[in-house]
Amino acid sequence: MDVGDTDAVPYDPTIYLGSAAHYRYGRPAYSPELEAALTRAAGLDGNGRLLDVGCGPGVFTVRLAHLFEQAVGLDPDAAMLAEGRRAAEEKEVMNIRWIQGLAEDLPAVAPGPYKLVTFGQSFQWTDEQRVAETVYDMLAPGGVLALIVHTVAGRPRPPDPGVPPIPHEEIKALVEKYLGSNRRAGQGNAPERTHRFEDVLAWTRFGVPRQFFVPGVPALLRESESVLSGYLSLSSSAPHLFGDRLDDFAGEVRALLASRSADGVFWDWPGDTEIIMARKPA
Ligand SMILES: C[S@@+](CC[C@H](N)C(=O)[O-])C[C@H]1O[C@@H](n2cnc3c(N)ncnc32)[C@H](O)[C@@H]1O
Repeated sequence: MDVGDTDAVPYDPTIYLGSAAHYRYGRPAYSPELEAALTRAAGLDGNGRLLDVGCGPGVFTVRLAHLFEQAVGLDPDAAMLAEGRRAAEEKEVMNIRWIQGLAEDLPAVAPGPYKLVTFGQSFQWTDEQRVAETVYDMLAPGGVLALIVHTVAGRPRPPDPGVPPIPHEEIKALVEKYLGSNRRAGQGNAPERTHRFEDVLAWTRFGVPRQFFVPGVPALLRESESVLSGYLSLSSSAPHLFGDRLDDFAGEVRALLASRSADGVFWDWPGDTEIIMARKPA
């Protein structure tokens, strides 16, 4: 692949239609060591500002806000932002501004400078190289960009805690039965990825990023309804895609889960939390 050869994904406002209400309950948590790892790696000291791009329901925004003077959560999806506001109120986190907008609208929608800019499972939705260059300009000297995802591949699997694992393959087969074999997203199919985040950053002024892992939750237990919500929180199986067959799909998933765990509890292993980090020179 040549430098700059990344296709921008045009934003489709229906990618997460109906997902926001399921997101916080359904998505597995990132590493409990995330705050400590970011504090060490980005030199956080309570000063400066955080920008969380594609913040969704504010998973990082709310978790990390106390490490900054102010945090900004940016997302184009109003329902996601409403969930973020609700979570911040519940946890009495007062120093967050929520902004509806696209990463591609930066810097105008949320001007810098920032000490840390995070993308939690959201960078892939953006015009990656252009957005990374914009973020570079928005960071304070010495500021850090962090792309954060769950990673299972190549990571050591923790010991089985003696609880049935989520039957992902069978649930995916049900998704396929209802939605077809192409991975869906919004009104079309999910874009195919042909490049790695690390390569994209290496093509920008950031240069080759640093990649490291912090341990995921080894014995994460989830209820059946949380497992179902997890699937409904994904763009590839968001509620709107099922149309009037949503209840049928949910019924089949519930029946499958009931057949696999008598008490409706499952072990989830979302993997370790991977951080791809790049710094603007001080
Ligand atoms: C998988 S969710 C991630 C939410 C949260 N950051 C997390 O780590 O759980 C992806 C989010 O990216 C947002 N998104 C999609 N396209 C975007 C774009 N072009 N700019 C900014 N955010 C975008 C979606 O609305 C969605 O809330």
